[in-house]
Amino acid sequence: MAKLLTFTESDLIVPYNPLLQLQKWLDEEKDATDSVLMSLSTVSSDCIPSCRYLNFCGLRESGIPFYTDSRSRKVKEFTANPAVALTLYIQPLVRQIRIQGTVKELSKEIAAGYFNALSREHQITLVLNHQDKPIASRKAMIEKRKEIAQKYSDPSIRISLPESWRAYIVLPNVIEFFQGHTDWLDDRIVFTKEDDKWNVKRLLP
Ligand SMILES: Cc1cc2nc3c(=O)[nH]c(=O)nc-3n(C[C@H](O)[C@H](O)[C@H](O)COP(=O)(O)O)c2cc1C
Repeated sequence: MAKLLTFTESDLIVPYNPLLQLQKWLDEEKDATDSVLMSLSTVSSDCIPSCRYLNFCGLRESGIPFYTDSRSRKVKEFTANPAVALTLYIQPLVRQIRIQGTVKELSKEIAAGYFNALSREHQITLVLNHQDKPIASRKAMIEKRKEIAQKYSDPSIRISLPESWRAYIVLPNVIEFFQGHTDWLDDRIVFTKEDDKWNVKRLLP
């Protein structure tokens, strides 16, 4: 394992800004987009929790974006209850970031920017995909994909953003940075937003 870093009070960016702090942590991992795992937890209106991994696509100024199908369970849940949690794990550096916040939808242009950057194969799958809808078999799925691939077999035909594919952002109100250590004396520093100002405290591991 690579030598683990420490996270001390002298590493804090002043004035406190946990998203800048998080960007600094990401910059310290050279393959950040590949080695960051991100899970999103939602809670349904009848208090049933649910958690799933999502692609981590970097930060935006106000929060952490993600891309998904607006007909999915997660979107139904955070539409009813916008309080969500994200957990990021930067595996090579043993760094965990726990985020609480609320979800807001981003513009269609941002969703299209993400979609347009995907490979054609990936775009075709997203056109076919009605996330969470049952389908009889893998064979049926492959058949359906073939039909769509056929429709777009001419590479000059542009595949446009499917109506249901959306971009969202988690606007954080609590972010905890956890730096693991081999001696278990882990660093935990929590940022909490109060009246638009971030407060910071250290917790015992
Ligand atoms: C590593 C990984 C990355 C994923 N990235 C995404 C993603 O960016 N968007 C998405 O909608 N689903 C993604 N998924 C699938 C989700 O985990 C989940 O199965 C799907 O979104 C349906 O979730 P839901 O039924 O809770 O809405 C990913 C799964 C894995 C394992």
